[in-house]
Amino acid sequence: MNHDTATAAVDARVAALLAARRPGHALDRAFYTDPEIFALDLERFLFRRWICAGHESRLPAAGDFFTIEIGRESVIVVRTADGRINALLNVCRHRGSRLCEGRSGRVAAGRLTCPYHAWTYDLDGRLLVARQMGEDFDPAGSGLRRLAVEVAEGLVFVCFAAAPPDFTRAREVLAATAGVHGWARAKVAHSETYTINANWKLAVENYMECYHCTPAHAEFARRHVYSRPAEQSVEVEAAARARSEALGIRIGDVDEYASLALPGGESVSILRSALTDGHLTASPDGGAVATLMGAFTDFDGSSTYFDIGPVSDFLAYADHGVMYRFIPKSAERTEMEVVWLVDRDAVEGRDYEVERLTWLWRATSVEDKKIIEMNAQGASSAFFVPGPYGRQEPYAGRFVDWYLGEIAPHGAPGSGREAARMKVASG
Ligand code: FES
Ligand SMILES: [Fe+2]
Repeated sequence: MNHDTATAAVDARVAALLAARRPGHALDRAFYTDPEIFALDLERFLFRRWICAGHESRLPAAGDFFTIEIGRESVIVVRTADGRINALLNVCRHRGSRLCEGRSGRVAAGRLTCPYHAWTYDLDGRLLVARQMGEDFDPAGSGLRRLAVEVAEGLVFVCFAAAPPDFTRAREVLAATAGVHGWARAKVAHSETYTINANWKLAVENYMECYHCTPAHAEFARRHVYSRPAEQSVEVEAAARARSEALGIRIGDVDEYASLALPGGESVSILRSALTDGHLTASPDGGAVATLMGAFTDFDGSSTYFDIGPVSDFLAYADHGVMYRFIPKSAERTEMEVVWLVDRDAVEGRDYEVERLTWLWRATSVEDKKIIEMNAQGASSAFFVPGPYGRQEPYAGRFVDWYLGEIAPHGAPGSGREAARMKVASG
């Protein structure tokens, strides 16, 4: 079967699944298990969106790099001599070897040299040296593939597409959230990577709803009003907003930026929610875990959730931040990287303890890994019939509609594209 025939076959399968789908319901198991649909996810959706690569503070000096991986792809994110950040595909233009191994390091003398036959590139990806290739070989056409890069409020985003989605609103959202929270002058205090035996969409859907928070996250639910139905938390949310305003804290408008599937632009969203009475931040006893960050001169007892694109989600408190990066590896395997940020002047042992700083979101991540994997096991049953999203799951339902609209073959009857548009139009 050639590539076009294979694509037509998977398109036909997706079209049939879409035609059979009940709106507002979870996805059929094929979307969580089928390797060919996973290939479509990458090609038509994830490689066309902005993906957070990490925090800029990991690249303090020229030549510093870290690698990120998604599916089979690997990308080198590197600081150039003049301070820019480049993202280069980690694939040599000779016979395709990986250039860098390992998760991070420093490139010697500003040169990337392939370990196989020593083709050598500069940090803009230009091929400088290719030994014994003959007179007629032109190195100009053999530079490394460069990905689009955006850096905003300390966060580095990359996109594989030649024409990436417009980043303007994403930049506005990041200024109004990460900017206010001081992430541009943050540093990484700790990070952990969890391997989740589940499709990446199950991990993202789980992150997009808090219907599961009360049954699955006792410690989170005890501290975060977000775990309750909205109508039960009107007063406590209003009180938290008043505390924020009294401190002059202005986070971007939630309604204005709830724009999944914005045509031509990257998806963004912001959510603000109160902590339960007496909690300053996410900690075992409600007390501070680190020094205040950004515009915060005191604790306001709130938390800020914001998302850019499909797989990069963030959460900020007055004294620390948490980045969630969902990294699809295969149809049934996802890595989840959790990164804790503190102010760059905070000193470990004096201003924060890693154990205390990471306690809540480590516990919550361990719980999430378990429930996502149990979800994957059940949803892969041949007898699984997708059920309806509930009132506390609107973001998960919208995310799925958006995703379907992007991977659906053009003009497929019942494709998610129309559904996603209607949802955006109706707010
Ligand atoms: S594969 Fe890199 S130099 Fe040959
Ligand atoms: Fe969760």
